[in-house]
Amino acid sequence: MIIRPRRLRKNVTIRNMVAETAVNPDALVYPMFVVEGENVKEEIPSMPGQYRFSIDAILVELDECVKLGIKSILLFGIPSFKDEMASSAYDDDGIVQRAVRSIKAHFPELYVITDVCLCEYMSHGHCGIVKEDGDVDNDPTLELLAKTALSHAEAGADMVAPSDMMDGRVAAIREKLDENGFTNLPIMAYSAKFASAYYGPFRDAADSAPHFGDRKSYQMDVRNGREALHEVELDLEEGADIVMVKPGLAFLDVLRETAEMSNVPVAVYNVSGEYSMVKAAAQQGWINEDAIIRENLIAFKRAGADIIITYHAKEALEKGLLK
Ligand code: PBG
Ligand code: ZN
Repeated sequence: MIIRPRRLRKNVTIRNMVAETAVNPDALVYPMFVVEGENVKEEIPSMPGQYRFSIDAILVELDECVKLGIKSILLFGIPSFKDEMASSAYDDDGIVQRAVRSIKAHFPELYVITDVCLCEYMSHGHCGIVKEDGDVDNDPTLELLAKTALSHAEAGADMVAPSDMMDGRVAAIREKLDENGFTNLPIMAYSAKFASAYYGPFRDAADSAPHFGDRKSYQMDVRNGREALHEVELDLEEGADIVMVKPGLAFLDVLRETAEMSNVPVAVYNVSGEYSMVKAAAQQGWINEDAIIRENLIAFKRAGADIIITYHAKEALEKGLLK
């Protein structure tokens, strides 16, 4: 007697009927980079197909994205001015603040999430204030992060996403938002954010690589799954509305465990290095790009992600890669 589970695989109709996983197109978030200037659409060398846009140019791009069904973006700013207090991060006239105002004016229905971090705005490229000994000074950084989040909220952001990994930042941002009347503005916390080499291309894109040292004192050790879950717990206690695991592919175990323990939705960030590897191999003709993108997105969903932040969002919708 042979046991035959494959009976349900032999025909496409039944295969589709019993498929356990489908990626919800509304659950995709498209990360985008905005720079100063006019009519700028500059391709990021290590991320083919991704660009730095000036505000006028991002509106043109978004028109296309919205038509394809993009419902949400995650916005990163690349300022023209950096200093040791990241002043342009919480400037009402900063690049993200102006971009959000303009985007929301043109696309009120588009859900705009802003990345809240200081590294793009710091002359040294770290995610917080740096002390004389070179260490990041956690507690004073919280005030700057809270101010940054508030200025994004005031500009019209629908959600803020702190990616800095300072202790206590979710609570600090929540308090600041609440004090200023933004009690309904959700926080998506980069909770289990690992000190990963997969962010390399992003740091080229955002010009945010640290000028000395690394981010290992504030981002998670890639060896530690249990500690990552502890970080998730703390963010939940501090009031995170969504928790995130980042990167995705090398951390699917953490994603699965987070999905099991979290009582709020879970996001995964399919980061720059993951994207670049797919693009590079595809350019060489070594992989079937569309099939790989589909498989990766399904993997996130199968592992338990509710929300998938991915540079593939636009092409996935364009080419119908979600089933
Ligand atoms: C800023 C930030 C980073 C990413 C998102 N927000 C880089 C970093 O922490 O060094 C990475 C995103 C990606 O690689 O796509 N802190
Ligand atoms: Zn940062």
